[in-house]
Amino acid sequence: MTSKYSFPNDFLWGVATSSYQIEGAHATDGKGPSIWDTFTQLPGNIKNGDTGNIACDHYSRWKDDVATMKDLGVQAYRFSISWPRVLPTGNGPDINEKGLAFYDRLVDGLLDANITPYITLYHWDLPQQIQNQGGWPHRSTVDLFVNYADIVSKKLGDRVKHWITHNEPWVVSTNGYLNGHHAPGHKSWGEALSATHHLLLSHGLAVPVIRNNSPNCEVGITLNLCPAYPASPSIADQQAAQQFDGEFNRWFLDPLFRGSYPEDVLMTHLSKKRIMSSDLSFIQDGDLQKISTPIDFLGLNYYSRAIIRSNEILEEENTPVEINPGERTDNGWEIHAESLHLLLKRLTIEYPIKAIYITENGAAYNIKPNGTSEIHDESRIKYIHDHLIACYKSLEDKVPLRGYFVWTLMDNFEWAEGYGQKFGLIHIDDATLNRIPKDSFHWYQRTIANNSLNH
Ligand code: FCB
Repeated sequence: MTSKYSFPNDFLWGVATSSYQIEGAHATDGKGPSIWDTFTQLPGNIKNGDTGNIACDHYSRWKDDVATMKDLGVQAYRFSISWPRVLPTGNGPDINEKGLAFYDRLVDGLLDANITPYITLYHWDLPQQIQNQGGWPHRSTVDLFVNYADIVSKKLGDRVKHWITHNEPWVVSTNGYLNGHHAPGHKSWGEALSATHHLLLSHGLAVPVIRNNSPNCEVGITLNLCPAYPASPSIADQQAAQQFDGEFNRWFLDPLFRGSYPEDVLMTHLSKKRIMSSDLSFIQDGDLQKISTPIDFLGLNYYSRAIIRSNEILEEENTPVEINPGERTDNGWEIHAESLHLLLKRLTIEYPIKAIYITENGAAYNIKPNGTSEIHDESRIKYIHDHLIACYKSLEDKVPLRGYFVWTLMDNFEWAEGYGQKFGLIHIDDATLNRIPKDSFHWYQRTIANNSLNH
């Protein structure tokens, strides 16, 4: 690093997407239904009744999208594989060759464009058939995931050398099985906790399988972590922040990097009767050892921090606690770049993590074209700029940060928010699906070309 905000020569610049959010082609070429296909059809689940049926039509337009990424100058592209596109019922022998061939072509297209593929195996689109058999709360899903990981890594492992097993298991279990905001829309503590365990176990068991199929590869998992700060110095607020940190962050970090669930969180679950100790039998002997199989990197998705106030007194009335944090993006998430810096340092100090990639970071700003073909999204540029400064400071502090992926390449289906929340560097025209690069696209292009924020 020479001048201010110049990044190391081998720092990796990328963009990220996920299958259900961009591909469309929801029933094309033999693809089976996923839980998101089912969930989006039910009225009331998604704002505006939006679905991913067509999304960005990336399934047809992938060549153009790869060319655009080449123009952007990214060295890496993180995308996910749709499990039911490859295995329509989720299960083993039933491979949909056309689906697998799509990813095969995409990988070759990326390599031809000098873009390194980073594959996420599970970004939330579980085959519906597996959910019909119980989904993530059931242990049988673990083996089905490992089998799927085996099939994909066997096919692509000669060329793909960077693998992410799961994206944000916290979101899968909490939004999918606890608060019901995401597919499959269940609301049960017991299901959420067993889903978490099976997601982590399926990760641990898939790691050696992927390594075996993809010699000299790197395998990791992506967590969404959210630093928690007490709203006041009171003991109650400090304890509440500690508890939030336990449930959100340590519940995933500890099993993965220490081979144990945090005792304080386990006690909270039991004392609040979210689960009975007898129900914890889904944690079997040897599981934690498998979950903590050493991995090559942690993928970190960072968007915001949380300010936590104890709701002990208010709980009975169920009154929301309004705290007054700083500036927010258009979807209401507080902007706090310095927390990313502190989080990266904490991770390095507290856990034996070999390498970290920021696998997602970005902001929702719902800025429309201004009548011309330009989109002036200065706010997104500022958000990314400030978070890259946090990355830069972390590198100065010797955090083993290897790269940064903007969420996301293009505006897409933002889950329960539908198409209303726009995180893309590229705008998608509603009627034609034409791609229009925003100012942030050109800014990121210059950042990558200069390997620096000085431009
Ligand atoms: C993350 C998801 C990603 C996207 C961003 C905004 O939690 O991984 O798919 O929705 O949030």
